[in-house]
Amino acid sequence: MSELRDSLIKELGDVYDAEQQLLKALPKMAQAASSPELKEALEGHLRETEEQVERLKEVFETLGVPVKSKPCKAMQGLIAEAEQGIKDGDAALIAMAQKIEHYEIASYGTLRSWASLLEEEDIADLLADTLDEEKGCDEQLTEIAESTANIEAAEDEAADMEDEEEEESAK
Ligand SMILES: [Fe+2]
Repeated sequence: MSELRDSLIKELGDVYDAEQQLLKALPKMAQAASSPELKEALEGHLRETEEQVERLKEVFETLGVPVKSKPCKAMQGLIAEAEQGIKDGDAALIAMAQKIEHYEIASYGTLRSWASLLEEEDIADLLADTLDEEKGCDEQLTEIAESTANIEAAEDEAADMEDEEEEESAK
């Protein structure tokens, strides 16, 4: 069990670093969003992320170990991709934000299970709170993606109709 406890502490350090990276990336992503709905969702998740960092500090404290951040290369990669595509429009932005959320869902899901196995129920509860927030954010992004796709499809259709009208009048 001490091996699992070590893994838990190590992975908590990983997710702690991942959240720190997100604190810096989310404002840029929110700024790049053109739909007010998406902007608001990303800003809302920034506030949640701030709380999640505090929650992780509480987890370390409950475990009786100092906060130890471990560079999360996966999040570095995800954020690098997000920054590259930041000007590709809302649909691309949502896709990148969802990849980030899915990574966090996987991390917190594992961490919560490990905490339960270690009979650290208080910690499992804290991690479950964060897991729920990540899932909520992901669902919200799916809803926005679907409405954005609808808007874009409608815009494309309108543009096609205009083209057709122009063609008609040119005849
Ligand atoms: Fe998070």
